[in-house]
Amino acid sequence: MKKIISVTNQKGGVGKTTTTINLATSLAAIKKSVLIVDADPQGNASTGLGLNYSERSPSVYEMIHEKKLLEAGIKETIIPGLKIIGSNTDLAAAEVELTDFNKREYVLKKIFDDLLDFDFVFIDCPPALGLLTINALVASNTALIPLQSEFFALEGLSALMKTINLIQQNYNKNLEIEGILLTMLDKRNSLSSLVEKDVRNHFGEKVYNTTIPRNVKISEAPSHGKPALVYDTHCSGSLAYIELAKEVILNQNKNNE
Ligand SMILES: Nc1ncnc2c1ncn2[C@@H]1O[C@H](COP(=O)(O)OP(=O)(O)O)[C@@H](O)[C@H]1O
Ligand SMILES: [Mg+2]
Repeated sequence: MKKIISVTNQKGGVGKTTTTINLATSLAAIKKSVLIVDADPQGNASTGLGLNYSERSPSVYEMIHEKKLLEAGIKETIIPGLKIIGSNTDLAAAEVELTDFNKREYVLKKIFDDLLDFDFVFIDCPPALGLLTINALVASNTALIPLQSEFFALEGLSALMKTINLIQQNYNKNLEIEGILLTMLDKRNSLSSLVEKDVRNHFGEKVYNTTIPRNVKISEAPSHGKPALVYDTHCSGSLAYIELAKEVILNQNKNNE
């Protein structure tokens, strides 16, 4: 059994890619087999894991184009146990091509049916609620939603929740919310704390106890092509992602009981 988690929020810059890379790395570190699917044409997850542009092919784009899993596209990373299907700007074309497909919402799901067993598959979604994100959510068991701890955190969230409802009703009735993650939290900033309180009031138990602090090491790591956990294992951001991994596993065990 593989658990497929879409990391999604149509707002850009909220920590989707950072969360995908570092949560996946934390889980690989405790011997889980993990795959990242870079579903954003910006290819930040690919770059952040040190994949060269030429190494990204066959990418998610070719798989969508051919409507099948291409084994050669599953690449090793520097992290043992963590693999990635990369992307590049070609993927922007998939958004257009998908419109003409039969059963266009199910293309990624069909591709993943042939995927070997992984403990976790993370889909790093693009910052839009288009067909790529819909394909990701249709193919997923759950959605993990990072929220940046700032004034407009909740803005746009109702549109995302509406999309998730729509997918539950029409394409994937088993889709669940994995959790809501507060990112880039600045404990010294009272606004950050207010936003945290507000989000917890709104979403209660769905919000992870773990929050991710704003931490400069986290933002430096991608330019070295490494997860923060490898770039600086002991920085506050890395430690927070390790805590998050524990929480994800605990929730998983609770659900399996
Ligand atoms: N906890 C954090 N502390 C500091 N910078 C962060 C943190 N999380 C993300 N960033 C930075 O913020 C920017 C946006 O994050 P990213 O994960 O790429 O968001 P998204 O994938 O949602 O667009 C990136 O430059 C990233 O390095
Ligand atoms: Mg991103």
